[in-house]
Amino acid sequence: MPCKPRCIYCTIYIFIFIFMLCFFLFLIIINPSSVKFYVTEATLTQFNLTSNNTLYYNFKVNITVTNPNKHVIVYYRMIKAIAWYKDNEFDRVSLTPFDQGYKNTTFLRAVFVGQSVIMLKPKQLGEYKDETSIGIYNDLAVNFDLRIRAKFGRIKSRRFSPPFVQCRRLSVPLILMDGKSAPPNSSVTRCNTGNFFQDRDGY
Ligand SMILES: *[C@@H]1O[C@H](CO)[C@@H](O)[C@H](O)[C@H]1NC(C)=O
Ligand SMILES: *[C@@H]1O[C@H](CO)[C@@H](O)[C@H](O)[C@H]1NC(C)=O
Ligand SMILES: *[C@@H]1O[C@H](CO)[C@@H](O)[C@H](O)[C@H]1NC(C)=O
Ligand SMILES: *[C@@H]1O[C@H](CO)[C@@H](O)[C@H](O)[C@H]1NC(C)=O
Ligand SMILES: *[C@@H]1O[C@H](CO)[C@@H](O)[C@H](O)[C@H]1NC(C)=O
Repeated sequence: MPCKPRCIYCTIYIFIFIFMLCFFLFLIIINPSSVKFYVTEATLTQFNLTSNNTLYYNFKVNITVTNPNKHVIVYYRMIKAIAWYKDNEFDRVSLTPFDQGYKNTTFLRAVFVGQSVIMLKPKQLGEYKDETSIGIYNDLAVNFDLRIRAKFGRIKSRRFSPPFVQCRRLSVPLILMDGKSAPPNSSVTRCNTGNFFQDRDGY
């Protein structure tokens, strides 16, 4: 007896369901750990907010990215670093795509130089002024917007976007050229990577 359309759909759905189930079981068995991001150094050589809300900045950040997994290769296809000051985005730069093998560490450097118009809230403006008099700016942050593929053993995923990697609450001293300033903050800050091998949109 030939299969009716409804029966064909049923079969297709069952196949898709079984496939998804297998893939999730596979991920659970492989159980990849999140990739780890650390900010190892952050420097500011300019951070002037002028009266017309224009921020002149020179902000450089070193980041190490470590893939702790023995059986996972990560292919970074798009890396955007986004700089924030107290929940105001002021710049974004693209970094060079790279591949990361088993248990490898990659060193990245994001350089944000330029000017941008930001609207600080009155409270934040007060904080900016206090921080300027002390010479250390708080609540700087760098987020990473990524698009990756990953190879689990022999199975290569399609492209997906992990959750935003968030390197928050950086306190960075301003380095003045006259030498009378604090050294760069080179204490290591761990970034939040969430569920790295899951698409942030849930597909
Ligand atoms: C940060 O990167 C710069 C340029 O690559 C390098 O000279 C400096 O030593 C790095 N700092 C740290 C703490 O890794
Ligand atoms: C930023 O401030 C520094 C020191 O206060 C000053 O030397 C520099 O000219 C200022 N830059 C701009 C673009 O306002
Ligand atoms: C802001 O003011 C500076 C001078 O203080 C000027 O050079 C700059 O063009 C102004 N920017 C805007 C967006 O009006
Ligand atoms: C990086 O990964 C490659 C495989 O892709 C491996 O051959 C190499 O030894 C790794 N490097 C380090 C420093 O672990
Ligand atoms: C800098 O120092 C502060 C503590 O003073 C810390 O909270 C912050 O995470 C440090 N690291 C960086 C890279 O800013």
